[in-house]
Amino acid sequence: MIPRFKPWLDSQEIKALFRWNTGAVERFEKEFARSFSADEAIAFPYGRSALFAFLQAVGVKEAEVIMPAYTCSVVAHAIILSGNTPRFVDISLFDYNMDLDLLPEAINEKTRAVIATHLFGYPLDIGRLESIVASAESRFGHKIWIVQDCAHSFGAEWKGRMVGTSGDTALYALNISKMMTSIFGGMLTFRDRELARRIRKWRDDRFNQASWFKPFFRRLYLAAAMAAFNEKIYGLTWWLQEKTSLLNRLTRSYHLDGKIHFPPDAFDRMLDVEAAVGLEQLKKYPMIIESRRTVAKWYDENLDRPEGWAFPPIVDGATYSHYVVRVPDRKKVVDAMAAKDVHLGELIQYSVPELRNYAVIDENQKISCKFSKYSSMHTINIPIGLQSEKGPIKQTLNSLRLW
Ligand SMILES: Cc1ncc(COP(=O)(O)O)c(C=O)c1O
Repeated sequence: MIPRFKPWLDSQEIKALFRWNTGAVERFEKEFARSFSADEAIAFPYGRSALFAFLQAVGVKEAEVIMPAYTCSVVAHAIILSGNTPRFVDISLFDYNMDLDLLPEAINEKTRAVIATHLFGYPLDIGRLESIVASAESRFGHKIWIVQDCAHSFGAEWKGRMVGTSGDTALYALNISKMMTSIFGGMLTFRDRELARRIRKWRDDRFNQASWFKPFFRRLYLAAAMAAFNEKIYGLTWWLQEKTSLLNRLTRSYHLDGKIHFPPDAFDRMLDVEAAVGLEQLKKYPMIIESRRTVAKWYDENLDRPEGWAFPPIVDGATYSHYVVRVPDRKKVVDAMAAKDVHLGELIQYSVPELRNYAVIDENQKISCKFSKYSSMHTINIPIGLQSEKGPIKQTLNSLRLW
């Protein structure tokens, strides 16, 4: 069965698991900064921990933090756990990013930060975002931090400018479902070395050495993931996910379990073994982007377009972490494709303000996030992380041309 996503892992990552990796975290930070045109990068155990640490370290507290309604729920968790309140802004149906027309009216005197997400590999208009925030800063007379959330868009470009290279910081998530992985992990990058120094100190003072057995479980997890996403046995993975609660329990905890909390290891330091895998992934990253761009273009030109389906745009500089299509009846399409051995994703299946743990969010915000809610009910994502260097890509792609 073709998996809904596939981490790009092979013998290099396996070897990295068994090498002596002392100092790998520092090397990973340096290489990461170099790869994504930053002056400094600081590693964390998760993306959510990185966002939490940033907000705390710069002193954003009892404030409103603006974020798109359509993104990963843990972004909102990090805002709440850091002592702040998320203010949700609806998205545009063109590229699923925050609708910048709605941003000026969402900013008020309590706003201290804006999380600007480049979702599904689509770059947000950074210039426009910055000018909206700069004019709000002069209106309200205080700093409003810009965090570019690049978890889906490593290396994407807006008009030739790499995302995450301006603003105050850029946030990256490195779990197994991302375009590149360090098993788990998160990263903040900076152009401002003084700000980076403050955040690094904050992290070093508060994040702990992981338990001695964690590296063992991380190795096991990566090896299991490599097996689980192999096309030859993915049918079993799919069955476990769809027909039993086992995998769902694992993948939804700390994320979609109705609570606002972090995993118990959210304040551990990144492990050397995770960084060692990340270093291998950085070497592959240009190839990963290139392959996704090729596949997205191929889908755009070759897939049949049933009436009522909305296909994603091809945009200069986009990296297509997901190839997302809106369909009238998602379940019908997902079931039909599963019967043909293709697992479609359903990202993102929720609009954050609609989640039961966000019941306190006022009704007006929920109503105003209508496109986010609509997308959460109609999106499918077609497998795009196919490894083109292995076997004829066209053959795999053709098997997706089934509806
Ligand atoms: C857009 C986005 N931002 C941030 C995160 C946070 O990452 P993590 O799961 O590493 O905490 C994710 C999670 O996958 C994400 O999809």
